[in-house]
Amino acid sequence: MTPLKDKPNHIAIIMDGNGRWAIEKGLSRKEGHYAGLKNIYSVVNHALTFGIKNLSLFAFSNENWQRNNSEIKYLLSLMDQALDEDIQRFKNQNIRVRHIGRPDRLSKNIQEKIQKAENFTKDNTKMNLNIVFDFGGREEILDAVKKIIKEKPDIDEINQEFFEEYLYSGQLPNVDLIIRTSGEMRLSNFFLWKSHYAEFYCTEVKWPDFNETEMKKALLDYNERHRRYGKTTH
Ligand code: FPP
Repeated sequence: MTPLKDKPNHIAIIMDGNGRWAIEKGLSRKEGHYAGLKNIYSVVNHALTFGIKNLSLFAFSNENWQRNNSEIKYLLSLMDQALDEDIQRFKNQNIRVRHIGRPDRLSKNIQEKIQKAENFTKDNTKMNLNIVFDFGGREEILDAVKKIIKEKPDIDEINQEFFEEYLYSGQLPNVDLIIRTSGEMRLSNFFLWKSHYAEFYCTEVKWPDFNETEMKKALLDYNERHRRYGKTTH
């Protein structure tokens, strides 16, 4: 691959299309999600190969609670299973795992496993892997406002750095590249704050098929972008 002059420090992925992928193959939506989970491990490996330091994966939005019960239960069971079975692998790969999103609507069991996984991997330094689960960008901002109002800070203290600390995603760097699979081109209430100057890359490929070649294409495309942050550069 052409050497990358500019690599995104933080990639955030909207992993879309599991359901359509499954239906096309005559499988159930659950089988699509299972294939989607398996693909996470491959994509994490590709991200490590390409030297990406921060990878955030949108696994469950707060709007996803409106899906049917059986699908919600299945997605929660996949999260539970991943926390049991895969944390040791991430630990061995020197990956720090974090949950980003609302903890309190998840079961006590999952909350405890998240705590354990975060502690277990907290000293790892090769990559930060953020599992974005029960997250909505607007809710994140509103929850931050509520926490700040409760603390009654001096109004002059409130600037962007101050505000960010109250966000679920507060400790993460700004997103450089958002990848969305399956042909959709919208943010769907993902990282509204952290994506303020993110570049977008959308592909028709559905999440379970998003492989190393597709990841390379996204990185090469990003490499050609001219990020101006509102300034003129010519
Ligand atoms: C979008 O596909 C995908 C999701 C809503 C869930 C993403 C979940 C995974 C990749 C697997 C589970 C991962 C964890 C960490 C538990 P869709 O169902 O909206 O697909 P469609 O638009 O084709 O119907």
